[in-house]
Amino acid sequence: MKRVLIIGAGFLQDFVICKAKEMGYETHAVDADPNAIGFKHADHYAVVNIVDEKACLEYAKANNIDGVLTAATDYGVLTAAYIAKEMGLPGLKYEVAQLIKNKYEVRKCLYENHVDDTEQAYEVHEDTNIEELARKIVYPVMVKPCDGSGSRGASRVDRAEDLKEACEYAIAGSITNRAEIETFITGREYGAESLVINGEVHVLGVMQKWMTKPPYYAELGHSIPSDLKTEVEEKVKKCVTNAIKALGVNFGSVNMDMLITEDGKVYIIDIGARMGGNMIGPCIIPYGTGVDYMAAMIQNAVGDSVDLNKEDKCAVATRLLAFDGGIVKILPNMEEVEKQFDVEIYHHLEEGMKVNEYHTNLDGCGYIVAKAETLKEAVYKAEAALDYFKRVIFEE
Ligand SMILES: Nc1ncnc2c1ncn2[C@@H]1O[C@H](COP(=O)(O)OP(=O)(O)O)[C@@H](O)[C@H]1O
Ligand SMILES: [Mg+2]
Repeated sequence: MKRVLIIGAGFLQDFVICKAKEMGYETHAVDADPNAIGFKHADHYAVVNIVDEKACLEYAKANNIDGVLTAATDYGVLTAAYIAKEMGLPGLKYEVAQLIKNKYEVRKCLYENHVDDTEQAYEVHEDTNIEELARKIVYPVMVKPCDGSGSRGASRVDRAEDLKEACEYAIAGSITNRAEIETFITGREYGAESLVINGEVHVLGVMQKWMTKPPYYAELGHSIPSDLKTEVEEKVKKCVTNAIKALGVNFGSVNMDMLITEDGKVYIIDIGARMGGNMIGPCIIPYGTGVDYMAAMIQNAVGDSVDLNKEDKCAVATRLLAFDGGIVKILPNMEEVEKQFDVEIYHHLEEGMKVNEYHTNLDGCGYIVAKAETLKEAVYKAEAALDYFKRVIFEE
């Protein structure tokens, strides 16, 4: 029985833990939160901060693991790469993991390799002369933490006089105190999920993304198949593959966000060298493409042969449980809601819980997943269920 270590044991990593267990692997998990849900399902676990590379390595060595992976969080990527390197296991090269975690370095690499059309990008930190930079920039720009996630700290700037505040806001949201400034792209947002096996890139799926209205830039849902014209989707796949090669990603999952303009230009805006969040692994890719994505990811991590065979697929639409905020008064019977709207619900709502107005991914309370023959039908079901939640749960 091979032993697999999952870095992180939260809500989204728990799906990976359960999958690995179901596949017959011995599962190990680490997380700083002693109440992490994944600990309930892992065969073995330890309360360890996932950014603490040395402590996680110690656990991995003591348990003689055969494979290591993380999912749906950027914080575990370096640690997984570190353990793989130190123990000679399949993994992402450590230098690549270091490069990937800085959005500015990623952007520079893509630009130098002519992977997409973005031109302007600057890195700023506390000592940068922002007044001087503000004069030479072409507006509008997007300012975001170099190492952000879930859209925290990101804002659009249209005028030189507003740059400083946006930079301070983004730097405050960065653990390395660095922000990136790049051209603001007006387009529709898409995501791509890929798996690199033995250095070969497999683009598993291209999804359309539903986002909040400015000034917030948070995800509201996904759908697959994308509504892109075949030639644009092919271009996306080529850009994704070229980006993965240019960055030197040699192993594992890659989750990418991109903006596509009306005239079909593709701009890559965000790359994570790990499985995407928001139910991409457990639902969107397997239901929407027929590939058992998490199984393939786990097989890849322990060095077993990887099965990318396709079973049946359908159209899938998801919606985040994203609300205007309030106290949860009524929690409906979820099984009944699932039946009534023909959807799946994954949530962490609780009666009496305070819900924030949805500004970043962290404000989400879970997911609605709808499957159907057509995209339109799937979107309809997911939205009908979301409307129901919005109407019912905050009522007196
Ligand atoms: N250059 C840009 N132009 C327009 N919108 C952008 C740009 N960069 C980021 N965004 C918006 O902000 C969101 C968050 O940015 P992203 O780089 O994906 O950060 P995070 O790591 O927080 O997900 C994106 O999903 C997108 O909607
Ligand atoms: Mg993103």
